Amino acid sequence: MKKAIIYYSKTGNTESVVKKFENVDLLEVKSESNDPYQKKVNLTETPDIKGYEHIIFASPVHAFQNCRVMQAYLNQLEDLKGITIDTFVTHQFRFSWLGGLQALKQMRKTIESKGGEVRYHKSINWKSHKREQDIQEMIELY
Ligand SMILES: Cc1cc2nc3c(=O)[nH]c(=O)nc-3n(C[C@H](O)[C@H](O)[C@H](O)COP(=O)(O)O)c2cc1C
Repeated sequence: MKKAIIYYSKTGNTESVVKKFENVDLLEVKSESNDPYQKKVNLTETPDIKGYEHIIFASPVHAFQNCRVMQAYLNQLEDLKGITIDTFVTHQFRFSWLGGLQALKQMRKTIESKGGEVRYHKSINWKSHKREQDIQEMIELY
């Protein structure tokens, strides 16, 4: 099954996680600006999803939401029907309800609006002492 991780990472945490996956294409979303509060996002790299049967979308949480760059990327996608989709976010605050869950919910809503379905989702707490274990379990599941 052709598999890709489509990700955005501002400070490198999310990127360090996606690099732990094996046998998967890593496709980075890029924007003209990395300002987390940019009003209008101008995407400069929009990975092509054509041909992928399994896609993992990964991004950081910014201000209790999905980061704006990944959200802008998801918004411009057209059809996600028939693709196996998983998502994960990385975040810093102690509890996943301080942003992580909201970001995952926002991603799910956008994915569903394009006809897609999210199979698994996960928030990785960067401050957690069991971060590495959580990452490994996610990699095995996805
Ligand atoms: C502007 C900004 C806002 C953030 N807001 C949140 C937040 O609401 N909740 C949270 O848990 N972490 C928040 N964080 C922490 C990041 O989500 C966390 O450090 C993440 O792992 C960064 O991923 P990256 O290195 O891939 O960019 C924020 C970070 C930044 C820079």
